[in-house]
Amino acid sequence: MIDSAPVLIIFGITGDLSKRKLLPAIYHLLSQDLLPKDVKIIGTSRREISLDELLSNVELCVLEEDNVCDPAGIAKLRAAMEVFKLDPVSDDNYTALSQHLDSLEAHERIFYMSLPPVAYAPIIERLSKHGLNDSRSRILLEKPFGYDENSAQELIDLVSEHYHEDQIYRIDHYLAKETAQNLLTFRLHNPIFTALWNSDHIERVHIEAAEKLGIENRADFYDKTGALRDLIQSHLMQLLALTLMDIPSHLKSHEIHLSKQYFLEQLMPADPKQALRAQYDGYRDAVGNPASPTETYALVHLKHSAERWQGVDIILETGKALPEKHTRIIVEFKAHAGQPANRLVFQVQPDEGISLDLFVKKPGFDNTMQKTMLDLTYETSFGDDKHIDAYERVIMDAMRADHALFASATEVMATWRVLQPILDAWENNSDGLTFYPMGAVPEATGNV
Ligand code: BG6
Repeated sequence: MIDSAPVLIIFGITGDLSKRKLLPAIYHLLSQDLLPKDVKIIGTSRREISLDELLSNVELCVLEEDNVCDPAGIAKLRAAMEVFKLDPVSDDNYTALSQHLDSLEAHERIFYMSLPPVAYAPIIERLSKHGLNDSRSRILLEKPFGYDENSAQELIDLVSEHYHEDQIYRIDHYLAKETAQNLLTFRLHNPIFTALWNSDHIERVHIEAAEKLGIENRADFYDKTGALRDLIQSHLMQLLALTLMDIPSHLKSHEIHLSKQYFLEQLMPADPKQALRAQYDGYRDAVGNPASPTETYALVHLKHSAERWQGVDIILETGKALPEKHTRIIVEFKAHAGQPANRLVFQVQPDEGISLDLFVKKPGFDNTMQKTMLDLTYETSFGDDKHIDAYERVIMDAMRADHALFASATEVMATWRVLQPILDAWENNSDGLTFYPMGAVPEATGNV
């Protein structure tokens, strides 16, 4: 629980992210009385939009996800929420916003940029000009944090000109997924694996995020972004760091970030020859760009320079329009004397769980070996325990000023640096781009 009641000011309240993720997450938190009673949510919008319209969108999204929508939860959201008409480039509007915030007497102000980063500059500059960057203020930023190494640095510089790093929360919602959070706890509290967590015993770490959906209605964004920037630079790099970084002695935000940064900074720059890209059939029509070189599938092999990880093959792989949606981290141990390899799998989503392949004798007269599995599923182990959505966690942690599950500037820069050679090699050309039918696995997978 959070003691004081902050104000959450959302820029981009009419956008897809607010509609599909943020407002439903706030609704869930309010329904369970997890936010302070007097919390205020202000949605800023350039165009006239009524609270009723916003709330009916939330109801639809919640119904679609949960099959039920609690009227009491919607009533709580209605009581907490208001719409504030604001033109992002009108100074007068920021003066009005500032006066309005003063009138609410809320101590903490949290500005949530639910917008593409190109829209940040005019807003951040004006917030700062109107004093809305003082010690009571925090700012939450959505990815992508830049487009490449240079633009990421520019974005970081722009924000840090107006806000201190302690006030900045860069959202990577994969860090807020329950199984991702379990990585450090699992590693810290299961010493049988600690001794094996190095290149003497681990052959390969493969992190895959497959999506069934295509690019949906994000043609413009996606065609400029592609799979490498959209998921590998952010979500998969963060999962990788949690999987292999040194475990800090305390799982406290500062220590976690230091260790993660140290790990990411020692990843070697990626070799473009060790990367694959592919595009699903029909993508070019969907984005209206007949020669688009944008990859909807990417696979990269990485190497780490620390002695602990030397020789370990690190594979990050993601794609859209694949046969199914799943995110998993596969840690493959070294096989001995022609025996099969044990694999430890963290199933991030769906059906969260952790499993270990074991090879045992099949019951019977013959001595036949069979692969089985030690299998922990969250469903059987934690039953009805409430499943917390990643965005609920993001909002909660921002309100209680806990930075642990957000990305730091140095982490962001380290990941761009690693991938920049591939970005350079893929820039404005389709060399090596292959194609795959929607709903199929690209053929070249794993052949690099
Ligand atoms: C977002 C990407 O960060 O993550 C999307 O921009 C992707 O392209 C989404 O679909 C996946 O998130 P989740 O939580 O559905 O796996």
